[in-house]
Amino acid sequence: MPSQRKIQIFGALFALAIFGVACTKKGGDTTTAAASNEIVFGEYGSMTGSESTFGIATHKGIMMAVEEANKTGGIKGKQIKVVSYDDQGKSDEAVTTVTKLITQDKVNLILGEVASSRSIAAGAVAQQYKIPMVSPSSTNPKVTQIGDYIFRVCFIDPFQGAVMAKFAINNLKFKKAAVFRDIRSDYSMGLANYFIEEFKKMGGDIVIDESYASQDADFKTQLTKIKSKNAELLFVPGYYTEVGLIARQARQLGYKGTLLGGDGWDSEKLTEIAGEAILGGYFSNHFAPEDKNPIVQNFVTQYKAKYGEVPNGLASMGYDAALVAIDAIKRAPDTTPAAIRDALAATKNFQAVTGIITINSERNAVKPAVVLKVAGNQQYTYVTTINP
Ligand code: PHE
Repeated sequence: MPSQRKIQIFGALFALAIFGVACTKKGGDTTTAAASNEIVFGEYGSMTGSESTFGIATHKGIMMAVEEANKTGGIKGKQIKVVSYDDQGKSDEAVTTVTKLITQDKVNLILGEVASSRSIAAGAVAQQYKIPMVSPSSTNPKVTQIGDYIFRVCFIDPFQGAVMAKFAINNLKFKKAAVFRDIRSDYSMGLANYFIEEFKKMGGDIVIDESYASQDADFKTQLTKIKSKNAELLFVPGYYTEVGLIARQARQLGYKGTLLGGDGWDSEKLTEIAGEAILGGYFSNHFAPEDKNPIVQNFVTQYKAKYGEVPNGLASMGYDAALVAIDAIKRAPDTTPAAIRDALAATKNFQAVTGIITINSERNAVKPAVVLKVAGNQQYTYVTTINP
């Protein structure tokens, strides 16, 4: 008995020692990454599925920034490696891939996601392990409210919603709006609310507020109700696949008003899906390639040379998220997650492609938005800039 007990105690102590090591790792293993001669960025995004253009364009922007940095010596004498995973546009996959990036790939920092619902789901994992995450373009306020390791380099939806309400009332002189939102999307639900709030505050009237669920393909029941209200505009704060189908079906049913939306429209696929139905529509976005600023023009030229296409908002936000991350790690005293976090939080007046980025106390960026008009097949022309 006594010897058996000894073994038990020894076993318990041994387990404690192992567990102790495991805990340190869980808190953000720095030994593997710090000892290696690489800095590892983890990326997760929708490379496939109905939002595939979001993930693909963001990835192109990230890779361009990382390759440029590596060509000029990397960071602290180390090259940057990017480990990317496809979350297929699913929240549970986003959680799985971020867990993998942290526990298996031992990344120093995470870039992603685009869609707010997925950033909210997977951001909780990054926060739990205390690994800094920078979302290029998730705009829902809840994303960075997760905790002190979660950042973004874009504006947020209370601003974006107000931008489109102001544009509708001041520029288009509309007073009657219909709203059609995606109940499965934090982004869509939030943006609809913020638009409505500002539109009403400015004296506008919301005549109907209907909803759908992402992955739906038939929107005719709701659109029939919407059409009967004769609104001058229909605000659809959704993602391009559903927005494209909604535009088509709205026109089939005879709706003649102007379609308005947010950054979720930003895809070369929007006009492919919607055809003529979406022409004349307006949406808010993070970036306009026509911007005369030489920084933007230089980026557009480089991007075109590399990928043979004009960058959209997602590509430029992916690029900027990586630039901000690289800048922070250069300034950080070492590459531990805590040091990188602090350096990200201290980002001030950083000149990026989509504007000057200062990370505020809520870990968000405050930047102007542009309004684009759908002018033709894959043609989104610059209309105006609205400042915060
Ligand atoms: N802002 C959107 C969201 O939070 C994502 C998005 C950004 C989509 C930019 C397209 C372009 O869900």
